[in-house]
Amino acid sequence: MKRKLKVGVVGATGMVGQTFMNLMEERQFPVAELRPFASENSLGKKIELQGQAWPCQVLKEGCFDGLDLVFFSSGDDISKEWAPKAVAAGAFAVDNSAAYRMDPNTVLVVPEVNGDLVGPGSKPQIIANPNCSTIQLVVALKPLADKFGIEEVRVSSYQAVSGAGKDGHDELLAQTSNHQADHKPKTFPHTILFNAIPQIGSFNDEGYSSEEVKIMKETRKILRQNDLKVSAFTVRIPALNAHSESVWVTLKKDVTRDHVMAALESGEGLVVQDDPKRSVYPLARDVSGKDPVYVGRVHRDPENSKLWLMWVVSDNIRKGAALNGIQIAEKIFG
Ligand SMILES: NC(=O)c1ccc[n+]([C@@H]2O[C@H](COP(=O)([O-])OP(=O)(O)OC[C@H]3O[C@@H](n4cnc5c(N)ncnc54)[C@H](OP(=O)(O)O)[C@@H]3O)[C@@H](O)[C@H]2O)c1
Repeated sequence: MKRKLKVGVVGATGMVGQTFMNLMEERQFPVAELRPFASENSLGKKIELQGQAWPCQVLKEGCFDGLDLVFFSSGDDISKEWAPKAVAAGAFAVDNSAAYRMDPNTVLVVPEVNGDLVGPGSKPQIIANPNCSTIQLVVALKPLADKFGIEEVRVSSYQAVSGAGKDGHDELLAQTSNHQADHKPKTFPHTILFNAIPQIGSFNDEGYSSEEVKIMKETRKILRQNDLKVSAFTVRIPALNAHSESVWVTLKKDVTRDHVMAALESGEGLVVQDDPKRSVYPLARDVSGKDPVYVGRVHRDPENSKLWLMWVVSDNIRKGAALNGIQIAEKIFG
């Protein structure tokens, strides 16, 4: 990177915010100044980065002055109000919330898929980071879309509790440590321990949850294919971190398994782990803490030669949130 950057992180104490810190450390992201923002509860806390400790601040008028870049990871309402203020102050606002993703004037970026939308010539603006389940899905679909074209995607997700932030993570851990107790769920609509809950977000009149609608709409926008048929069914499971997805994808061409595997192996940011007879396929426990998207269990539907099934796993806090944001910043300032 050409110069050191003045960086704000809104939600610096959260699961995504803390992962931004880890990634900036790991990737030696050049930071001249860090301004960590959190709620009033975190005033007095210090965030450590690259050998320095930076005090947490609360959001207030003028708080972004002089910054080059602000990562937002504090939810939709905060992004809606404060991301435009970061841009008005001359900074890029990379937003992990859903506030601007489907805004026609805002780019929705996964660098491996549509990274051409941002670069060194970009002007300060809001850049939306997609939903975590969408990101891993489109990274796996991209090489298939490029090589063969895709007609239809169906996806069922098995999503970790960390996707609901530190409250979700802590709720499962608390239930695990006292699994005989009568649990009062707070973050999830039911007890998550030893369970599978087919609800992530709120439901619309058609019966889809808000998480499912995000996957369906965002996938079309990122792949730039408005006519793509996408249907999603999302489920919360008691995995701590990393989301898994079973995916059915209908290709436009009838191709061999070797062709499909070669395409997936060439996918940017994608790692193939596929030897099911030896129990080799991606697992959430192994993928947690890693950067790529992993794919395995690739096989053809017996009745439709263009329909392929696969298992896609990725760390929802890394590639599904903070890593994708850092990669966007690296494209702009690289
Ligand atoms: N978790 C995921 O897998 C994931 C993936 C993709 C996108 N996202 C999105 O990323 C965002 C953050 O998610 P998360 O999982 O990191 O949540 P989280 O662990 O609950 O963290 C929330 C953060 O927001 C801060 N915050 C709360 N109120 C605030 C305020 N008034 N002003 C400034 N900061 C405030 C919290 O600070 P305190 O510690 O002081 O309360 C904390 O740092 C959400 O929009 C989420 O949808 C999450």
